[in-house]
This record gives sequence, structure tokens and C-alpha cells, in this order.
Amino acid sequence: MGNRRPLIAGNWKMYKTGSEAVETARQLVKLVEDVTNAEVMIAPPFTAISYVSDIVRNSRVSLGAQNLFWENEGAYTGEISSAMLVSAGCKYVIIGHSERRQYFGETDETVNKKIKAAIASKLIPILCVGESEKEREGKNTFSVLDKQVTNGLEGFLVNELETLVIAYEPIWAIGTGKTATSDQVQEVHLFLRSLAEKKNGNMLAKSIRILYGGSVKPDNVTELMGLPDVDGALVGGASLDAETFSKIVHY
Ligand code: PGA
Repeated sequence: MGNRRPLIAGNWKMYKTGSEAVETARQLVKLVEDVTNAEVMIAPPFTAISYVSDIVRNSRVSLGAQNLFWENEGAYTGEISSAMLVSAGCKYVIIGHSERRQYFGETDETVNKKIKAAIASKLIPILCVGESEKEREGKNTFSVLDKQVTNGLEGFLVNELETLVIAYEPIWAIGTGKTATSDQVQEVHLFLRSLAEKKNGNMLAKSIRILYGGSVKPDNVTELMGLPDVDGALVGGASLDAETFSKIVHY
């Protein structure tokens, strides 16, 4: 696995009020005090980020956001900029999650702009890619992923992508309890790493972290993390409970 430090990231989606988020973050900080084998990140909803930031400061838990807008500031009602996320304590930002593509009209082009904004602010982008069930059945998985990665990362210099994280999240495995098989996951992760090599060279391909997401649970994480090209997990449902998420972190 080279020197890639595993990342276990929790995506809380649209769950938890400020006080609920604080409570879970408090529990999690305690439960993962001893963890050294992986970096732990949680991405609360925007309204809880600042509160959670106070709780996780000087702990093993890093903070992320679930989205951003690419402009620095301006008349963009309802949007949040990368500078705002940095000042609220974020280190990571999830970009192009399939739910955002599906329900909020995100495209590879908007994803590209968001990644640019994140990198300019020194936030670590987590680019989410993944195929639908129909695309997999139609044997289009690799072409779909190729397009998402190629267009999402168009126009960057190799050194700008040094911190980039890619999350492979097959849409049919998100929140469904259906995890991709180890063979399916490893095959795709290897494909994504080869794609990174083809476009950005061997150094980046070796260092880039590729996470798997989609119904990751305490009972399947060990097998997933044992795969040679899996460098971590992006966890939705099972990250909402501190004890369950801590079990995943202690894979
Ligand atoms: P899930 O979600 O773990 O609930 O399947 C993963 C994600 O959407 O990031």
C-alpha cells in the first residue's frame, strides 16, 4: 500500500442538529483516542461545523464539509465558500457526491470548479465518482468513471493534485446495504489508480488515496481495507453513531 495513510471519513449527510453533532463528536473523540493506523474525518452538516470544530480540535478527528461553492464570496444566496470552510476549521471537503449529482444538478464541470476552489484554499478535496446499477449492468462502469475523473480533474497541474482523494462509490451500494464485492472494488480501484498514472504519472498514482464508499459497516470494513488499492472508506449511515463508526475506524 506504499506510504498512503488510510483515511476513514464519515459523511453525516443531512443528519444531526448542532447539539446532536456535538454529542456524537464528543463520543467519537474519546473512542478514537488510541487510533494511529488511520486518519479519521467527519463531515457534519454546515450548521454544525463550527461547533464540532471546537470539539475535535487537538484530537485524532479531522473535520470536513460535504460541499462548497466555487466563488470566494458574493451575491450567491445559500452558498458557502472554501474560505468559510477553512475558517470554520475544515481540512477536507467532499465534492461531487452522487446525491449532489442526482438531486442538485451537479455535473463534472461544476465538480471541476469546486475542486479548483478547494485546492486554491488548501482544502483537501474528496472527489466522489461512481456508476449507477444500469451503467454497471450495461458494462459501462469504466467509461463512466473515466469520464467523471477526466472531466472532474481537467486543467490541473500534477502538483496541484498531490493531496487529492478519490472516493469510489457505486451508486447502487449507497445506503442500500449492498456492498460491492471485493473483486469489484479492487478492480475499480486499480483502474482508477492506472487512470491517475496515465494522466498524471507514477508518483501521483502511487500517493493518491482512493477510498471505497457504499454500505461500509464494521463487519465488512476489514476485508475492504485489506484490498491492495483501497486506502480508506467514505462512510454514510454507519458514521452517524460514534460507537459503530469507531468500530469501523478500528478495522
Ligand atoms: P452509506 O453512504 O455508507 O450510507 O452507504 C455512503 C456515502 O454516501 O458516502
